[in-house]
Amino acid sequence: MALNKRVVLSSDHAAIEMRMAVAQRVTDLGWEAVDIGPSTPESTHYPEHGAAAAQLVASGDCRFGIILCGTGQGIMMAANKVKGVRCGVCSDLFSAEMIRAHNDANMLSLGARVIEEADAMQIAEVFLTTEFEGGRHGTRVDMISALEG
Ligand code: RB5
Repeated sequence: MALNKRVVLSSDHAAIEMRMAVAQRVTDLGWEAVDIGPSTPESTHYPEHGAAAAQLVASGDCRFGIILCGTGQGIMMAANKVKGVRCGVCSDLFSAEMIRAHNDANMLSLGARVIEEADAMQIAEVFLTTEFEGGRHGTRVDMISALEG
């Protein structure tokens, strides 16, 4: 499937406000933000939201995914169980650049109880504007994919 300009966003209850701010940055950068919620603050289960977003990335419906929970860790773990997904938690700009340039990550995870909203928006921007370098990094990404069986 051809690459597209759609970015799926999802979170648990801990990160709804931050998700909306990041979605706005995604839109401002010229991407279509596909926000699959949740939209209400009731306590919910991050594996469900991570998996739902990851399925849209794995299927090719969305080029990238940005997911959030309190730490970014649990929802990242769930997303990485979906075949074809490479998701990393980032709390700094350098990591956001590297997971695209070297790891060809197709999903980014953010921790709403770890970083500030402005930082989350900037991390998302770096993630979406950094290209994969390929070459020797492609060999290593292929090795990651091979582990999926
Ligand atoms: C929810 O309280 C919290 O556990 C969740 O948002 C996340 O931090 C899990 O990794």
